[in-house]
Amino acid sequence: MSSYIIEGGKKLQGETFVSGSKNASLPIMAASVLNRSITKLYNVPNIHDTQMMIEILKSLGCKVKKNQNKIVIDSSNITNFEIPENLMRQMRSSVIFAGAILGRYKKVTFSYPGGCDIGSRPIDLHLKGFEKLGIAVNQNFGKIKCETEEIKPTEINLDFPSVGATENIMLASVLTKGVTTIINAAMEPEIIDLQNFLNKMGAKISGAGSNIIKIQGVTKLKEVSYNIMPDRIEAGTLLCAAAITGGEINLKKVNVNHIAPLLDKLAHIGCKMQIKENEVELKAPKRLKGTDIRTMPYPGFPTDMQAIIASCLCLASGTSVIVENIFENRYKYMGELQKMGAKINIEGKTAVIKGTKKLYGTKVQATDLRGGASLVLAGLVAKGTTKVDNIEYILRGYENLDEKLKNLGAEIYKIQD
Ligand code: UD1
Repeated sequence: MSSYIIEGGKKLQGETFVSGSKNASLPIMAASVLNRSITKLYNVPNIHDTQMMIEILKSLGCKVKKNQNKIVIDSSNITNFEIPENLMRQMRSSVIFAGAILGRYKKVTFSYPGGCDIGSRPIDLHLKGFEKLGIAVNQNFGKIKCETEEIKPTEINLDFPSVGATENIMLASVLTKGVTTIINAAMEPEIIDLQNFLNKMGAKISGAGSNIIKIQGVTKLKEVSYNIMPDRIEAGTLLCAAAITGGEINLKKVNVNHIAPLLDKLAHIGCKMQIKENEVELKAPKRLKGTDIRTMPYPGFPTDMQAIIASCLCLASGTSVIVENIFENRYKYMGELQKMGAKINIEGKTAVIKGTKKLYGTKVQATDLRGGASLVLAGLVAKGTTKVDNIEYILRGYENLDEKLKNLGAEIYKIQD
């Protein structure tokens, strides 16, 4: 078990940059399985989740070389069509291998994926999508076996714009004969990155970023090099870290279009910003103002930023209301913020936060990835020392978060218990 020790009260100042996107890297790494050739990926964040994807790729028979943020995957010789259960349990994105293996081999066996406990997180939309493509889906003792002679292109109407289901259907359809259409597809920027990657590999996909995606099947794919997009949630986390400490930072390598809903909220709560092409300069006010947040699928306010901005609102003036519309159980971290003095009332999917002038350092536990980051932000500004335990959750998704914060003037140390 590792922890962060944070001495609160330092204003963040200076320049930092955003790493490659976790949520774009994971499906793209899975998508490399479609290719009988070499995939070179750049700007892949060096985090636990991408390491787990490498383990899965190796377990399938791929050869993988990693050097800092570059990963080279040789998937010419896949020998295993079953994703090992112990690796499935490590993370939610393991399920995206199902679409990729199906797309290439028309058969796959896997089990229910693990990941952060932020709600029930079913995969019914993924499986319904596979069935619509003519794939037989059989479940037995927790194992899911999918198989078909031929994947049949069709029109799939998603009941909800699920990011993972959209990705899985895209991957399963890349090598079919004909056109598959996904209606009510997720519109997240990571879906566009997946489309761009697949098209660079020889696929013919259009529409990503809108709610209708068309996949024209192709017969062959080719060697590909691809640079992963910047992580919009890490960008938001670093901006909120500056905002909560009353700081002033210059954030580089950011795609400002991807974080538009957050930038609007940061302006609304009192931050002054200069927004350039790939850069945001943020100057926080002495005290932030409260606001209301409703999480929605993209281009709405992202659920992954909910916990992060919540810690800012705990110290803002006035009362803020958050409505979490995507995941049913995404307020666990708030119990930990309350231990630090936050005044929060939760009823169902609504959290009412009464801004207080001070939070107090104490021992808290990360309950999930983004909730953990929220506690780190609270620790940066709390009076005294905060110990955030269980930071394994945070290390799953943030590359060098402590180092980046330290370079901006925070007092934060990682310790091994
Ligand atoms: C992805 C992101 C995650 C983000 C989420 C929503 C990755 C690796 N993870 O997760 O960080 O919080 O999008 O933006 O990209 N649902 C069903 N049935 C399904 C699938 C989903 O009911 O088969 C529900 C989920 O329980 C949830 C909602 O749909 O309530 C959104 O889930 P989804 O968009 O699929 O999220 P993920 O792809 O798991």
